[in-house]
Order: sequence, then C-alpha cells, then structure tokens
Amino acid sequence: MIVDLRSDTVTQPTAEMKEAMLNAIVGDDVLGDDPTVIQLEELVANRFGHEAALFCPSGTMTNQIAIKVHTNAPGEVVCDELAHIYRYEGGGMAFNSGVSNRLISGDRGRFTLEQLQAEINPDDVHFPPTQLVALENTCNKGGGCYWEMSEIERIAAFCRSENIPIHLDGARLYNALVAQKTSEAEMGKHFDSISLCLSKGLGAPVGSLLTGTKDFIKRARRIRKILGGGMRQAGYLAAAGIYALENNVERLNVDHDNAKVLGKVLESKKAIKKLYPIDTNIVIYVLKDHMDMQDYLLDLENKGIRAVSMGAQTVRLVTHLGIGANEMEYLTQNL
Ligand SMILES: Cc1ncc(COP(=O)(O)O)c(C=O)c1O
Repeated sequence: MIVDLRSDTVTQPTAEMKEAMLNAIVGDDVLGDDPTVIQLEELVANRFGHEAALFCPSGTMTNQIAIKVHTNAPGEVVCDELAHIYRYEGGGMAFNSGVSNRLISGDRGRFTLEQLQAEINPDDVHFPPTQLVALENTCNKGGGCYWEMSEIERIAAFCRSENIPIHLDGARLYNALVAQKTSEAEMGKHFDSISLCLSKGLGAPVGSLLTGTKDFIKRARRIRKILGGGMRQAGYLAAAGIYALENNVERLNVDHDNAKVLGKVLESKKAIKKLYPIDTNIVIYVLKDHMDMQDYLLDLENKGIRAVSMGAQTVRLVTHLGIGANEMEYLTQNL
C-alpha cells in the first residue's frame, strides 16, 4: 500500500468530481464568458462577503497578484518569518513587485497586534513605506495552527486605522473555519483580499481564488493576464472547485481527527524529540539529534509511507481526502 502524506495537494479527483467537470458548460474565461468560472467566482465572493473574485491557476499566483496590486515599489510587506509568501514563493515579492519584507518572529506563524505595531515604519525617507500586512491561516510551516479570531479582529482594526491593506493567505482557510466553527463572512470582513486554494484539503485538481473589491479584482485580472494566468475553457476546472466547495468542506473534520490519531501514534515513538500541537490536518515533528532524517524518510518510503522534510530534523505529514479508514489502519501499524 502507498499512503501519501506529503501534502493535501496530492488528492485525486473523485468520480463525482470528474462527473461535475465533464458536465461543465464552458466559454472563454479570458474573454470573460465562461459561465462556470463566473459561477465559481460569484460563489466564493458571496461566501466571504467580498464584492468580486478571480479564478487563478495557483495559490502562489493569487498571493503574488494580491501583493502586486496592494503595493507600489519601494514598499514593505509585513508578515511572519514562516509565511509561505516569504519562504516558498521563489522570492516572488521582490521579483514581481519590487518590495521588501519585514518579518515577525511569531508563534508558529502567528503574531500579535503589539508585535505588528512595532514593525510599522514611520513616514521617514530612510524607511520603505509599510504597504501591506499579510496573515496566513492556517499556517503551513507552523503545523496547521489557526489564528484566534480576537487577534485577527485587533490586527484588522489597526490596519484599517493606519490605512494599510491586509491580505490573507488562506491556502487552507477552510481548515481553520471548520476547526473554529467560524463562518466565511465572519473571516472575510476583516480582510481586503483573500487567497483561497481549492487544490489542497478541498480536493480539487487545480485552482485558487483571489477575492476583494470590484476595483481590486479588476486590477488583479490585468496582472493575472500579464503573468500568463488567463485560462480559456477553465470552466472544467472551476466545476471541480464548485463541487469541492459544495461537498468537501465539512469532511475536513475527518482529516483533522485523523491527524490527531497520527499524533497519538507518533507520541510513543523513540525516534521523535518533539511533536507540534495538532490543530488541523498537518502533523509536524522533530527527530532526535542522532537520527538521520534522509534515512528516516527512506525507511518510511520503503514501507509505502510518503512524508516530506520541513527543515532540519523536521518531518511533515498531511492528512487529506485520500486517507480513509484503510490507510489509517495501515499507518497505525506501520508508522
Ligand atoms: C500557506 C500556503 N500558501 C500558498 C501556497 C501556494 O499554493 P500553490 O501550490 O497552489 O501555488 C501553499 C502551497 O502549499 C501554502 O501552503
């Protein structure tokens, strides 16, 4: 048996999702007339209480477009030091937008209002103007933890009072919403833009949405075209996204429960020095110093269990809709 825990991006579309894709009515989305893409964009904008949304090929693209539209070089983006936009998007902020970063050392990817306030630049020629604050929820490198709504509220109110836009990298936002039992509208009202991925826990093969005001999305659409992200009969992909949003949200609880079970299994392993708290579908743990991580990952691979490294001695497992009862039984016995 192969049990792939490298990421929740490895899911295969189910038969029902493929059926929805095959039956999609499509047009040419670059010309603006693909009805299924329009339906998906309206669905997501409405759920989050934003005026408009834009369907893009990836979460990296939605984040990078948001940064490009919100900023104007030479500006500065404030985010946590673990943020995906800073660590894993190929230096895109500098490459695409010519902005620098101010990094906060938070708690597993989350910071407080007071930490943020200390990093806002004064209006002084020595400093780049602070032009964007970016949060990530759930935090990938922080082990899938989510932000307290009360802290988001404080930070968003501060950003509004300072006239600094606030973006949310919500690649796994539904994991946070389901775990916290929070509505999309409750989350959406605090952000100027949100990036939401369909191809992670939600189980669609491709795609992310960027949400915001009509004017913001109009400008985002222009950047999407420049980056080569305009797709033609994209409705086939959008249909998978609509299916995912209508069918795969509540089931994220199963992934969260499975992750906790894996945590229990790992707790008793001698090779492990530290296990991060498990809040959603990501399990991160640190191996003891004497362990060779490559050998450890190879041993797992030889047992058919796929995992990835997240830095020195650090291993990540991610549960998703491809991990059912059989896979869990196998993992319980073989991890
Ligand atoms: C938190 C976070 N943001 C953004 C992305 C980028 O998404 P994509 O792989 O679709 O570019 C990822 C991907 O894993 C992620 O974990």
